[in-house]
Amino acid sequence: MTQFEVVRLGHKGDGITKDGVFVPHALPGEVVEGDVENDRVIHGRIITSSPARVTPACRHYKACGGCALQHASDEFVADWKREIVATALKNHGISAGLETIHTSPSCSRRRAVFHGRRTKKSVMVGLYGRASDSLVPVPDCILMTPEIMSAYGALERLVQLGASRRGEMNLAVIATETGLDVSVENGKPLDMDLRIDLGQVVREQRFSRLSWNGEDVAGEAPAYLRFGKARVVPPAGAFLQATAAGEAALVRAMRRAVGDAHRVIDLFAGCGTFSLPCAETAEVHAVEGVSEMLDALSKGWRQAEGLKRVTVETRDLFRQPICADELNRFDAAIIDPPRPGAAAQCDEIAKSALKTVGFVSCNPITFARDAKTLAEAGFVLDWIEVIDQFRWSTHVEIAARFLRV
Ligand SMILES: C[S@@+](CC[C@H](N)C(=O)[O-])C[C@H]1O[C@@H](n2cnc3c(N)ncnc32)[C@H](O)[C@@H]1O
Repeated sequence: MTQFEVVRLGHKGDGITKDGVFVPHALPGEVVEGDVENDRVIHGRIITSSPARVTPACRHYKACGGCALQHASDEFVADWKREIVATALKNHGISAGLETIHTSPSCSRRRAVFHGRRTKKSVMVGLYGRASDSLVPVPDCILMTPEIMSAYGALERLVQLGASRRGEMNLAVIATETGLDVSVENGKPLDMDLRIDLGQVVREQRFSRLSWNGEDVAGEAPAYLRFGKARVVPPAGAFLQATAAGEAALVRAMRRAVGDAHRVIDLFAGCGTFSLPCAETAEVHAVEGVSEMLDALSKGWRQAEGLKRVTVETRDLFRQPICADELNRFDAAIIDPPRPGAAAQCDEIAKSALKTVGFVSCNPITFARDAKTLAEAGFVLDWIEVIDQFRWSTHVEIAARFLRV
């Protein structure tokens, strides 16, 4: 056995020594004794423990890959996530004073993708294990909301009814205002008997909707989500911010970013997480690649009272970004791209006369690249917040405002 000293954490949360050996579940400053296999320490035993080490709160933590950092204190994780953002920006020559981090509480993740398969005698529903594709049952998971976890047995029932002998089913679950919205992929083809059995599960569990291989098969009530004054029924499996607390912090940040702007463009708008609350004070043009999400947004807006005008536009913002001239019609932009960021759209923002940009990002690397494009065009990073809605994971979410001076 050899001893290894951990000097930093890797992007998946493993400890790493100065020679690049990975030490799972270890923290910087810790000394671990173990053997090495493929550059990873196996059968590690902690010799010197970090003051930041805590006892993991979940009994599934050791095997489950859903969380990566339960063995570290909240303060440690917050500092680590702040440091990731600061370093990414520094690599592009941008310095930033990071404001307080908002960390979502346990038991608050309101969307989850479980996997399920049949076993020889029964069924299994769970999450993938750490660095593996084996399923780990997680009936006492403390990440998801109680509503989601109380349906664990019903998810097993869906797998029992609808998983083929060999295939693995994906079960995406969203906790909506009106019950769980469950979207199953890779289930057996629907026939009359299966429809009847699925309908019974939906009734018993009062699921707001069950969608099976892309088809809505049953539902007890419209699957409503609330965005400000509007209620929206998202298309099955649509994007939703991971926790209600995280979403509230992001919405607060974006409303603060646009301030008293009269005309706002919301780029990568989804179903209206930011557009609809901002429409309480500004006219909003929402642009998004998936037309079904914009249909849901529009319908929610039409049915709400007291909102200013919201228009929508389906557009691929990677291939056909909103050009500088079009952007000049607005007082402020909100931009919330997926992980690859918004290089083409930020080039257009740079060329435009826009003075205010609220930026939300789930990827510090592409955020820093896009921030540099804005900085070179005269924008300054006015403020930046880290919003940790992916508690105990290595994901980092950012909200920021850029102002052109
Ligand atoms: C991080 S989500 C944000 C959604 C929304 N702002 C919210 O908070 O709910 C990114 C959004 O970008 C959309 N998207 C992904 N690629 C796109 C593209 N090339 N053009 C336009 N929209 C795209 C996705 O459908 C998704 O709704």
